[in-house]
Amino acid sequence: MTIRSQIIGCGSYLPARAVTNEELSRNLDTSDQWIRERSGIEKRHIAAEGEFTSHLGIAAGQAALDDAGIGASEVDLIVLATSTPDETFPSTASCIQAGLGAAGSAAFDVQAVCAGFIYALAVADNFIRCSQACTVLVIGAETLSRILDWNDRSTCVLFGDGAGALVLQASKGLGEVNDRGVLSTHLHCDGRDHDCLYVDGGPSSTGMVGVVKMQGKEVFKKAVVRLTEVAEEAFSTHGLSGRDVDWMVPHQANLRIMKGMAKKLDFGEEKVIVTIDQHANTSAASIPLALDWGCSEGKIQPGHLLLLEALGSGLTWGAAIVRW
Ligand code: ACO
Repeated sequence: MTIRSQIIGCGSYLPARAVTNEELSRNLDTSDQWIRERSGIEKRHIAAEGEFTSHLGIAAGQAALDDAGIGASEVDLIVLATSTPDETFPSTASCIQAGLGAAGSAAFDVQAVCAGFIYALAVADNFIRCSQACTVLVIGAETLSRILDWNDRSTCVLFGDGAGALVLQASKGLGEVNDRGVLSTHLHCDGRDHDCLYVDGGPSSTGMVGVVKMQGKEVFKKAVVRLTEVAEEAFSTHGLSGRDVDWMVPHQANLRIMKGMAKKLDFGEEKVIVTIDQHANTSAASIPLALDWGCSEGKIQPGHLLLLEALGSGLTWGAAIVRW
């Protein structure tokens, strides 16, 4: 018998305000055509004034709990992936915990930028498999719009705000690839690539929040290599190939990266869940937002085999094989 982290609920939340490429190009030297062709993005959602990462996380977390049909008091642990916390401390997870009414559970943030959701999922899965928690709420929530230089067209057009969440619960499996739940997670980091993608501020360095700086071409090249490596690592763990997987649910950073990955991994493009057109890059929120969209569209069904993968600042990257 193996303990598995089964996914029993999924939910998401997007701020009400959607900003199209055309709207952005009114005040910035860019165009709808450039943004669509280079990234696949058509619009992004932007949090309202006074709407914080915790508010987004509470809404997504509550939706996931409702989907699971359980109350917040049943949650043992909340793991939040975010790079845009409400405050330097306490953790935004603790604000979300209070908002959901889950007092007494453990709660903390995980910071791995765009790979954050895979890292948070791995932490949650390990807590469950070590029997330290039975029911875990894993959330990715971001207000990236707050750390963008809105005069830098090479970054500000690419990101958006949003949140998504999963409820994981311990269940019994046979230790086989047919088990439902998280089958494996694979995490990596290479801190030498710091300068490719970072925020030029922080409590310990400048005392300011800072804004996103990115060498887009460098990150693009490294993303294709690292994501292919980690997907192959995940497949080889289970003796799988791209053809065995029902859906690839990648971090939504660039449509060209996703299509390149599908080709390299012998995946039909039609098996890739794509939401970047609607949400842009929501960092740690993008995978759970894509999962929730895939479910609501009737694409992802119980029993389907999923490859999740992401790369972000650090550079950090990772993958997970999940049976829905
Ligand atoms: N509108 C119009 N022109 C623009 C814009 C814009 N918004 N931004 C840049 N340009 C111009 C550039 O100035 C450049 O002009 P030049 O040729 O005259 O110098 C030209 O467009 C080409 O720019 P590139 O940066 O070379 O464009 P590229 O094809 O590489 O696409 C992009 C840029 C979309 C950023 C791409 O490199 C990318 O997606 N990179 C990976 C991003 C990623 O995966 N990030 C990781 C996760 S994010 C995280 O962890 C927070």
